[in-house]
Amino acid sequence: MNSKKAFQLFPAWVCLAFAALFHGCASGPQDLRVNNLLVEGRDSLLGSDMLAPRFSWKIHSGKQDVKQVAYQLLVASSKEALDKDNADVWNSGKIEADSSLNVVYQGKPLQSHQSLYWKVKVWTNHKEEIFSAPSLWTMGLLQPAEWQAHWIGLNSYNKSDQPDSTLTRLAARYLRKEFSSDKKIKAATVYISGMGLYELFLNGRKVGNDVLAPTVSEYNKKIFYNTYDVTPLVAQGTNCLGVTLGNGRFFAVRNFHGKPNPLTQIPQSQYGLPQLLLQLRIRYEDGSVAWVHSDQSWKVTDNGPILANNEFDGEDYNANKELTGWSNAGYNDQAWKAVDLMSPGKNVSIAAQPNENIRIKEVLHPVSVHKTPRGTYILDMGQNMVGWVAINVRGEKGDSVRLRFAETMKGKDSLYVDNLRDAKATDTYILRGGGTESWEPKFTYHGFRFVEVSGLRTQPDVKDFSGKVVYDDIPTIGTFETSNETINAVFKNAYWTIRGNYRGMPTDCPQRDERVAWLGDRVISSYGESFMFDNSRLYAKWLEDIEDSQKENGSIPDIAPSFWDRYADNVTYPSAFILIPEMLRRQFGDERSFVKLYPAMKKWTLYMWDTYRDNDLVLKDNYGDWCVPPESLEMIWTQDPKRITDGGLLASAYYYHCLGLMKQYAERLGYTSDVRNFDDIAQRVLTAFNKKFYNAGSKSYANNTVTANLLPLSFGMVPEEDKAAVFANIRARLKDFNDHVNSGIIGGMWLMRGLSDNGAADLAYKLATNTTYPSWGYMVKQGATTIWELWNGDAANPMMNSGNHQMLLGDLIVWYYEYLAGIKTDDKEVAFKKIIMNPVFPEGLDFVKASLNTKYGEVKSHWKKTAGALEWEITIPANTTAEVILPGNKTAITESGKALSGSVLERAKEAATGKTVLTLGSGTYSFVVKR
Ligand code: BGC
Repeated sequence: MNSKKAFQLFPAWVCLAFAALFHGCASGPQDLRVNNLLVEGRDSLLGSDMLAPRFSWKIHSGKQDVKQVAYQLLVASSKEALDKDNADVWNSGKIEADSSLNVVYQGKPLQSHQSLYWKVKVWTNHKEEIFSAPSLWTMGLLQPAEWQAHWIGLNSYNKSDQPDSTLTRLAARYLRKEFSSDKKIKAATVYISGMGLYELFLNGRKVGNDVLAPTVSEYNKKIFYNTYDVTPLVAQGTNCLGVTLGNGRFFAVRNFHGKPNPLTQIPQSQYGLPQLLLQLRIRYEDGSVAWVHSDQSWKVTDNGPILANNEFDGEDYNANKELTGWSNAGYNDQAWKAVDLMSPGKNVSIAAQPNENIRIKEVLHPVSVHKTPRGTYILDMGQNMVGWVAINVRGEKGDSVRLRFAETMKGKDSLYVDNLRDAKATDTYILRGGGTESWEPKFTYHGFRFVEVSGLRTQPDVKDFSGKVVYDDIPTIGTFETSNETINAVFKNAYWTIRGNYRGMPTDCPQRDERVAWLGDRVISSYGESFMFDNSRLYAKWLEDIEDSQKENGSIPDIAPSFWDRYADNVTYPSAFILIPEMLRRQFGDERSFVKLYPAMKKWTLYMWDTYRDNDLVLKDNYGDWCVPPESLEMIWTQDPKRITDGGLLASAYYYHCLGLMKQYAERLGYTSDVRNFDDIAQRVLTAFNKKFYNAGSKSYANNTVTANLLPLSFGMVPEEDKAAVFANIRARLKDFNDHVNSGIIGGMWLMRGLSDNGAADLAYKLATNTTYPSWGYMVKQGATTIWELWNGDAANPMMNSGNHQMLLGDLIVWYYEYLAGIKTDDKEVAFKKIIMNPVFPEGLDFVKASLNTKYGEVKSHWKKTAGALEWEITIPANTTAEVILPGNKTAITESGKALSGSVLERAKEAATGKTVLTLGSGTYSFVVKR
């Protein structure tokens, strides 16, 4: 329930006018549309290995209160069959149900390489029915034995490679194979994996729009392959496949030669030299099939234009070494070598990639170019971004143009690179001379706002530089705007930070020599992110990485994939493995993650109990309440005992919370003895926790930090009668810090919701809009265009000071949507099938305008305070309902204006507050609530 404080904002507000507006409410079946047909969340999914894929669709209608009452799925082996409603693969029959999300396939067993055409028919409560347009998905290679290809590459270094140094840049490998295809082609499909990264060409044309593919994985367990339809690219006659291989994370970005990284003391995982696995399947019109495999007949060279590459240090390219025509048939490859047979390691499986690849998602041009006294040029992209810069340059043969990247400047002429630590973040292009030359790197990326360009003979123009913004090709689903400029700027910074760290895994940062996926950073941030991006497949995939990295005994690393070999066995970081499946269930209706991962989650939970139990508590902690704002701006880690929360409290509170979730998962799965077991352990932990940490006299936990009190309060561990007093301590402690945030990332995950849920939404609003240290607004004030790793990112030691780190967001984005906009999913009718709309209206905030494109369609909430009134417009998508809590209290609503046409399905009073609760069907509504 929302805060009393929030209610006081409208003490005497009387809901006088209430109208439902019917936007575009023409009637007739033509209004009804069914689209967004997705299989496993993907449009036109290629090369799936899901034997029971899930189908989803969206329903649109101009009518009010539209519900699906039945559906019928038709799946056919050809478009022609489907057009004739001949569902020769699966006809679900007419199913009376309102589900349009994650409907599981139940047809004939799916086969490798199958193309499947499908459509859905929907019946609504308005007695309308309609078919969707057809859609397609294809199957990949389902049996390991179907992989006839060999891993190939070059099992040696060239003289400019740096295998003995800590830096690990290698020349890119170019591989080619000519093949003939002499009959009329019906379809051609490539299945490819290239470790660490590949770029594929067919007859000189790049295949697909992906970059930095494939997605990362726990390489010593599993490697992902991608599927491309190359039918239009294969010619009758001689063809050529060409593949370039870069290091990626497979040939590790740093090599400490068996010793741990001296900075972090963490061992680095190394997997092997770049290598390729590829199968091309050609199906001819006459029904016959031909294959091209990666095998010993391919040729390779590392003597091409990409002289050196890795993700931290950048790429060097010499245009004079271009292998013109190398991926076309007829190229003379006599100087090339025969490939070496390679192996990614024993017991490595190959699987269809379940998440989207990275793509170029936006292009920015510098907002300014400025010449330094050294004759170099500083580009300001105007935004801290992640990707690279494509250049158009002119000069003479052999000129070398160098681009160095940084997030901030030291004065106006020098880049500030200290916080990149050891990452060289430098790209070099050597010109061939004559005319304008265009280039961009392939196998590196940088986190930067500023670029220093050297080696140019003439003043460049901003148009000569294109900042390619690259991240996972997933849709943005949320918009958010308020009357408060700080909130808007923080939202924008969060958006750039989140997209900048989606790299097939959720990385911590994109710029320094780290860029790994720390579990602790995403425990709740992933939930906030889910209001901005459809991150469902990314996180489902990342949970698989975590599962793949789990040790036999149950231990889970703090980083997955375990590129840094870090198994510290704390609770707070690995808790991501228990909490994120619940986020996927709630926000996206994805139950498969927790069902599939349940055994692994259970194993970790019991492993921690069996291994670290100490008087009924699991106290094992490593990072504390990471990144508490320190007392002095130059520090990274606080030394102030008043700011430091006992690690044992963090661990055992989180452990208790994990047990609660495990119990819920077990309940859903019907594992009754597990339910009992988790419940028993939870009760023991609860008793021991309050015994050890609760100070009954002062009604506070441990040393009475905000985090120490907030966790037990948020996790339901505080005795009922003491809740208000414990919360009073939280308020008092915030007051000690002048109502500024003083928790780190662990407390920050619950802070904004904790304050609002306990009657202090105005205080939450204060934290959200502060502009003095420490606050999100402080970052904005200092000119940040992304979220910092440290509250004092402007002044702290560069040793650990990324300018593009999402973890300090805590639960801020969740709060923006669920509390400010009032867009929240019901816990049972998840994925916004039922939407709970109960915003807070903080003093000082005049409007919120937000939208969220859920799996059912777009929800909108737009409220504004006008003279003496509150106006609230709401859009509810078809096939969902909303429970809307109107502000104001005891006064009855009187209706005026248009008839409601039955769209208010129910009207009730909230027992505790007397507020009016409306259940709405789909449609667009406008409420005016007057004083
Ligand atoms: C990472 C953090 C992470 C932390 C844990 C840092 O270097 O960037 O995001 O949570 O280490 O030690």
